[in-house]
Amino acid sequence: MPYEFPYPSPALAAEHPFVALDVEHRSVEEMRLAGRAFNDRLGRRRSVRSLAPDPIPLDVIDQAIATASTAPSGAHLQPWTWVVVGDLEVKRRIREAAEEEERQNYLEHRMNDEWQRALAPLGTDHHKEFLEVAPWLVVLFEQRYGVADDGSKRHHYYVKESCGIAAGFFIAALHEAGLATLTHTPSPMAFLSRLLGRPDNERPFVLFPVGRPLDGALVPDLRRKSLSEVRVIVGDVPDALR
Ligand SMILES: Cc1cc2nc3c(=O)[nH]c(=O)nc-3n(C[C@H](O)[C@H](O)[C@H](O)COP(=O)(O)O)c2cc1C
Repeated sequence: MPYEFPYPSPALAAEHPFVALDVEHRSVEEMRLAGRAFNDRLGRRRSVRSLAPDPIPLDVIDQAIATASTAPSGAHLQPWTWVVVGDLEVKRRIREAAEEEERQNYLEHRMNDEWQRALAPLGTDHHKEFLEVAPWLVVLFEQRYGVADDGSKRHHYYVKESCGIAAGFFIAALHEAGLATLTHTPSPMAFLSRLLGRPDNERPFVLFPVGRPLDGALVPDLRRKSLSEVRVIVGDVPDALR
């Protein structure tokens, strides 16, 4: 037992019973293989702005949301709500409102020159047709605070970090299922609260159009940073960890 102060302590375990970790033991070689395979699969994920209209059953979307909801969250308060829209009229209204915000961003200079130059290689503009074409729109709302049954407020911790991680799980789950999405933030996004009738404690975090990619869809030819560009080692690496 390498711990002087084991977790949970006997006193904690007596008050809050713990359960055994559901663990899958892997050899180092298996770790390497699994890690490489996962990296290969996730490495093929792209943001797709040409989604196909092909219908995708709701349970496939629900499964990805269930996976997203396994994400870690501050104090395990899971400060997220996933709003799912397949209704044509609601999707049309969301597209219209998003295009209006983006028109101001792109054409009326609400995004400054530096921002617009950074976006230039992506070729994005104020047209957001995919919001109507994709079979589903999934809007992740962050819950700034919780509301108890008696109406009292409950503090939520690390809301943005928690939602960011859950969003990552969601994107990965969709990709694993063979679906495509776009992390879309047509900001300001307050129109989503209004159109979707969300309560005051929720703020839109990301709008995900979800579907199959259109046949022959094109994506920007982006280069990702290499490991050596993103990873820094501090101190020596002990021989046993090489
Ligand atoms: C927080 C966040 C917000 C984004 N917002 C938009 C957006 O509003 N519109 C858009 O077309 N792409 C948006 N993107 C997608 C990025 O442009 C895309 O992830 C990036 O170009 C890398 O491409 P890849 O996802 O294909 O690897 C957003 C991505 C993130 C992480």
